Amino acid sequence: MHKFYLSVIFILLAVIGFGTYKFILQGAVGNSPDNRISIKLSSSERNLLLKEMRSFLSSIQQITQSLVKDDFIKAAKAARASGRAAQKDVPGSLMSKLPLGFKKLGFDTHSRFDQLALDTADMVDKQLVLTQLSTLMQNCVSCHAAYRLDLEKQQ
Ligand code: HEC
Repeated sequence: MHKFYLSVIFILLAVIGFGTYKFILQGAVGNSPDNRISIKLSSSERNLLLKEMRSFLSSIQQITQSLVKDDFIKAAKAARASGRAAQKDVPGSLMSKLPLGFKKLGFDTHSRFDQLALDTADMVDKQLVLTQLSTLMQNCVSCHAAYRLDLEKQQ
């Protein structure tokens, strides 16, 4: 009987371990011809992420334009638009398809925009804003080098 319970516990742990690996660490990934990791999504999920990307780009354009005019309030506002609040629209089903490394870089990028918004308004220091922005943009570069978004096969 004792052995029976042990095997049940073992099987449950294996299932939990597999689930954690599949849905939290690995995501829905495959290989691609350009050697990046291909994340397989439905077209609406892909569209949602690409929309988020375009708003990243728009924030950066507005931040740099505002800095040229010494408008730190506007620069902070543009940074906040890509902060953590912007990621609340990502549904759990999409989260589970994203590999851990991708999620980490994504969360970190949103957090850095929030930090940039705070520091821009507090410090009013162009050099500091540009330094933080260029560091933040290393996230854009490294994520694009590692991942691409492709459509999953229709079931
Ligand atoms: C967590 C990963 C990740 C981060 C961080 C990231 N991107 Fe992306 N981005 C992607 C992926 C993946 C694609 C799709 C590329 C592909 O399929 O070839 C993409 C696509 C884009 C596109 C194209 C949008 C479209 O409509 O086709 C833009 C613009 C973009 N990213 C801007 C940015 C900017 C600016 C940053 C930094 C502030 C950034 N991204 C940060 C992963 C990321």
